[in-house]
Amino acid sequence: MLSLNDIRSSFLDYFRRQGHEVVASSPLVPRNDPTLMFANSGMVQFKNLFTGVEHRDYQRATTAQKCVRAGGKHNDLDNVGYTSRHHTFFEMLGNFSFGDYFKEQAIPFAWEMVTKELGIDASRLLVTVFHTDDEAADLWKKVAGLPDERIIRIPTADNFWMMGPTGPCGPCSEIFYDHGDHIWGGPPGSPEEDGDRFVEIWNLVFMQYEQFEDGSRVDLPNQSIDTGMGIERVAALLQGTNDNYATDLMRALIEASAHQSSTDPDGPGKTHHRVIADHLRSTSFLIADGVMPSNEGRGYVLRRIMRRAMRHAHLLGAKDPLMYRLVPELVRQMGGAYPELQHAQALIAETLKTEETRFRQTLERGLRLLDDELEKLPEDVELPGEAAFRLYDTYGFPLDLTQDALREKGRSVDTAGFDAAMEAQKAKARAAWTGSGETRDATIWFDLAERHGATDFLGYDTERAEGQVLAIVVNGSPREVAKAGESVQIVLNQTPFYAESGGQVGDSGRLSTETGKAVVTDTRKVAGVFIHIAEVTEGEIRVGSGAELEVDHARRGAIRSNHSATHLLHEALRERLGDHVAQRGSLNAADRLRFDFSHNQALSAEDLETVTAQVNAFIRQNSPVETRIMTPDDARAIGAQALFGEKYGEEVRVVSMGTAPTGKGADGNTWSIELCGGTHVRRTGDIGLFVALGDSASSAGVRRIEALTGEAARAHLAGQERRLAEVAATIKAPQGEVVERVRALVDERKAMQNEIAQLRRDLAMAGGSGSAKEDEIKEINGVPFVSQVLKGVSGKDLRGLIDEHKTRLGTGAVLLIADTDGKAAVAAGVTEDMLSKVSAVDLVKAAVAELGGVGGGGRPDMAQGGGKDAGNADAAIRAAEAVIGG
Ligand code: ALA
Repeated sequence: MLSLNDIRSSFLDYFRRQGHEVVASSPLVPRNDPTLMFANSGMVQFKNLFTGVEHRDYQRATTAQKCVRAGGKHNDLDNVGYTSRHHTFFEMLGNFSFGDYFKEQAIPFAWEMVTKELGIDASRLLVTVFHTDDEAADLWKKVAGLPDERIIRIPTADNFWMMGPTGPCGPCSEIFYDHGDHIWGGPPGSPEEDGDRFVEIWNLVFMQYEQFEDGSRVDLPNQSIDTGMGIERVAALLQGTNDNYATDLMRALIEASAHQSSTDPDGPGKTHHRVIADHLRSTSFLIADGVMPSNEGRGYVLRRIMRRAMRHAHLLGAKDPLMYRLVPELVRQMGGAYPELQHAQALIAETLKTEETRFRQTLERGLRLLDDELEKLPEDVELPGEAAFRLYDTYGFPLDLTQDALREKGRSVDTAGFDAAMEAQKAKARAAWTGSGETRDATIWFDLAERHGATDFLGYDTERAEGQVLAIVVNGSPREVAKAGESVQIVLNQTPFYAESGGQVGDSGRLSTETGKAVVTDTRKVAGVFIHIAEVTEGEIRVGSGAELEVDHARRGAIRSNHSATHLLHEALRERLGDHVAQRGSLNAADRLRFDFSHNQALSAEDLETVTAQVNAFIRQNSPVETRIMTPDDARAIGAQALFGEKYGEEVRVVSMGTAPTGKGADGNTWSIELCGGTHVRRTGDIGLFVALGDSASSAGVRRIEALTGEAARAHLAGQERRLAEVAATIKAPQGEVVERVRALVDERKAMQNEIAQLRRDLAMAGGSGSAKEDEIKEINGVPFVSQVLKGVSGKDLRGLIDEHKTRLGTGAVLLIADTDGKAAVAAGVTEDMLSKVSAVDLVKAAVAELGGVGGGGRPDMAQGGGKDAGNADAAIRAAEAVIGG
């Protein structure tokens, strides 16, 4: 018996032999189509190859594509588990021709694949074609030898395939399998076609048009092929059943569910097991592709699916969380074909466990509340929307979960009432928000948030994606179009651009639409709306157009490096300085990082060196950087660093990196664990290099370290090295001896300065270089008096000179005036024995008055002063002489 895994391999292998490139499934979150919530068919990733916008070096491809149909228009969620063929997650096998072969080859390939490779009994097959497509009908007749009654012409859209309202499209031809008359149902096109007897297994689309928004169609540049085979259906028929849930893979998951809940897989809990098996696949694959449960957008679809499965686990009587225990079986079944499941296994299990633990606490209370409400109502009355909204708002019951619970009781809910209650709450929240003191300008963003919801951020996983332009704002007013040269703010439904928050700067990059181009210089967010601050550089940008968005990779790479290095630095500081170290602020820009932390004193050179060495050791460790989502309590329990005083929501993003035997975390060996919404490197080695530029005081009790990583760090070190080389060359010393040589030069300089000072003093004693007369002693009023005007002597030196004169005189008074560029410093000294006759203070005061200064003072034996008119030095001396003369 062919297993599902065998079928997948044999399909891909067959088309590989037919010259097709085997291409990996694209992620469930489409990178290239903003209009799709999730990849819903194999052709999505090739959309631009069909329209000729993109070319690759192959023209034929084959894939096994992961698909989720659970949000938006294809919402099958309610049916899943109750029918044999509805799924939220399924795999689509396909072969594609991009302008290479067309119908004439697609039909023979399909026939050979189905009848030869898979060995399906040809007599059970029939096909449909679009009613006008004679060419396809003839080919089937020729290639498969099918009689006319098994080539059914269908005149409806069922046989015209469109990706969505716009995009590549064309008539199609479907292959059906007849399970036999023991099952009710009729062939396609018949009144009984909805029965289970005839099952569509493969859709061949003859892509030939591109449809535009206004409904017009043009021919594609080349006729192409897109096909899609539901692997679960084919597996069912090859395994002799018409129930997809009875196939080997789904059965293994159902049995795991039964085993883990100690229940019978085929007993009364049968539906629950089917729901769980299906939802386990969609939730696990979505988490592996970067979707995290949240209250918005894709994250909310994921949460709804998870919670629905969890309610069914509860109905099975499972006492503890169940879903996460099924992950190993899923990885065993599908991890070979989809390695992303293996990589994300821990993340998937943890996310499921957290969500289920939390949800179980409110589930029972919510279900009781639901029962109470129903009891109050007559049998045939719908549950009021208000009550369903209370369940949603207070207990986190998505509407479809309430509907699912009611369905078992044959009841329904007033959905219009639910919507109205939701609207009323939004209006209230808005009123509260606008009153909260935010600027009036921001209301425009809040309006947009209300109209379109929060922007879906794709930038954790990709730096390139398509988005749809939802709004353009110029100078605070909405616009339909912005033209080249205008500065605009652009809002899209989804974006890879990170909006400034948590210390990480906003992304910059490029945005282009069919009609124009813009350069995004910064990204901010208000009320969950990402605002792309941009300059239109070419043509025009219009609301409603699809846009290609590309983040500046080099810049973002540098920002990632700096952000991850900040986490390593934080932990290294705590280890070196103590647990009191807590983040007080940070900046993660492209050119540097800045980290402010609580600590009372400056870091020593040794502190900085130790911390730097440790950060670099973790960089070299090159361990993976991991991200998880958990409750704030769980995050704290594993030792995550959280920002003091920060308000966290129901779930937080936790980033961990580095392994250390003394670490924290569930396994006790994670080095750094922080709550963080930023973008990070994949492995610590990507940081490259870390250099701290130094430590300074930021504010009282807060220190600041600025640092560089990667190329900026290298360039900084290169600069340092260049300067060192210049210094070495200048002082003509080998680099290794620079320090000793510079020290010697500094000592030498000091000695020379002393020597110069001494020489100056000697010179002054010898009469100076100024206009002073020969060391002439005048006897005035019985006081021997010496006076000099000195040039080239500084005021500071006067004191020493006065002492020397006093020693030399033995008895008497001295007055010295230093003339430095016309400014005067004056000092006077009187020997001990003459103090009764004259005071140095009086001499200085008299001199200062002549020199254009004020005051002057000191002690009777030594006084100093100054003035601005050194030209009056002679008058000053005469004034001093007059003081002695009495
Ligand atoms: N794109 C086609 C489908 O999904 C093959 O049915």
